[in-house]
Amino acid sequence: MKVDLLKLVEYGGCSSKIPAKQLEEILKFLPLPSDPNILVDIDTHDDAGVYRISDELALVLTTDFFPPVCSDPYEFGQIAAANSISDVYAMGGDPVLALNIAMFPAKGLPLQAYSEMLKGGFDKATEAGVRIIGGHTIDDTPPKYGLAVVGFVHPEKIITNAGARPGDRLVLTKPVGTGIIMAAQRMGMAEDNDVEEAKRLMKLLNKSGAGVMKKHGLKGATDITGFGLAGHALKMAKAGKVSIKINMREVPLIGKTFNLVDDGCIPGASFRNLEYSETDTLFAADLDYNLKMIAFDSQTSGGLLMSVPEEKAETVISDLHLAGLTSASIIGEVTEFREKYLILES
Ligand code: CO
Ligand code: CO
Ligand code: CO
Repeated sequence: MKVDLLKLVEYGGCSSKIPAKQLEEILKFLPLPSDPNILVDIDTHDDAGVYRISDELALVLTTDFFPPVCSDPYEFGQIAAANSISDVYAMGGDPVLALNIAMFPAKGLPLQAYSEMLKGGFDKATEAGVRIIGGHTIDDTPPKYGLAVVGFVHPEKIITNAGARPGDRLVLTKPVGTGIIMAAQRMGMAEDNDVEEAKRLMKLLNKSGAGVMKKHGLKGATDITGFGLAGHALKMAKAGKVSIKINMREVPLIGKTFNLVDDGCIPGASFRNLEYSETDTLFAADLDYNLKMIAFDSQTSGGLLMSVPEEKAETVISDLHLAGLTSASIIGEVTEFREKYLILES
């Protein structure tokens, strides 16, 4: 029996995150732990927490899990694992260990689908050099899968949301549009080659991009996931107390992403992301509507967004291209804070 996981979910991947606005409401009552060895906590909305063990070693801890974003269990497992591990790469860390987090209906689906999903996660983790040494499962519908990941980083080489500096160029390593393409697929509107490309990109580890960041000693980065390019850029701008300007025409897109928006293919998560970011964003008067909605498209296992000192930008781009990230582009710049944290133009 061929299993189609998408038949079980309303929305999958990172678009199933709790909307950022509600998340802030929930978290604001939670006290922050205080410990001098906590180097990064949720205060800067970073991709992972970082804890110092010694002057040479800190632990990077993160977890992500979500419902299926594609039909095939093995591919879903690969994507979920690549997405979970990405947060360690975004912090400049080397991922080392992981635990499976899995929810799956014990009845109604062949158990083999479950095995395939976990095998997809295992293979992707192995590709990243990560050993999965345990996990936890719950009987639940729809299925959900992801990893809790531990990585190592040198305490002085942490890359954070707060590291963007005025004058920096913004570099994005993967094209945008996975939310729109995968939603279009479910409506029978997407072309097969666009779906294949979206899945290839979601499975692609951010390992090579992270290698380039480390080589050039970059200080500021994040990865693009549920809150979309604009949402994650906004979090960087706030954490660094700077303004970030993105020229949406420079943002590489997957296949027919732009046209699919014309055809009305805008996932609900885009509107929630827009609503959250609106008050802190300046929209250029001539900003194209499609590009505006694409900026808020929820990405699953998206690329790295790096803040790169101007003099290094061209070399970083050519190193990323050499590493196989052929769409990597400069999409904007960082300035002193003025008026709004995020400026979207086209
Ligand atoms: Co992240
Ligand atoms: Co995450
Ligand atoms: Co347990």
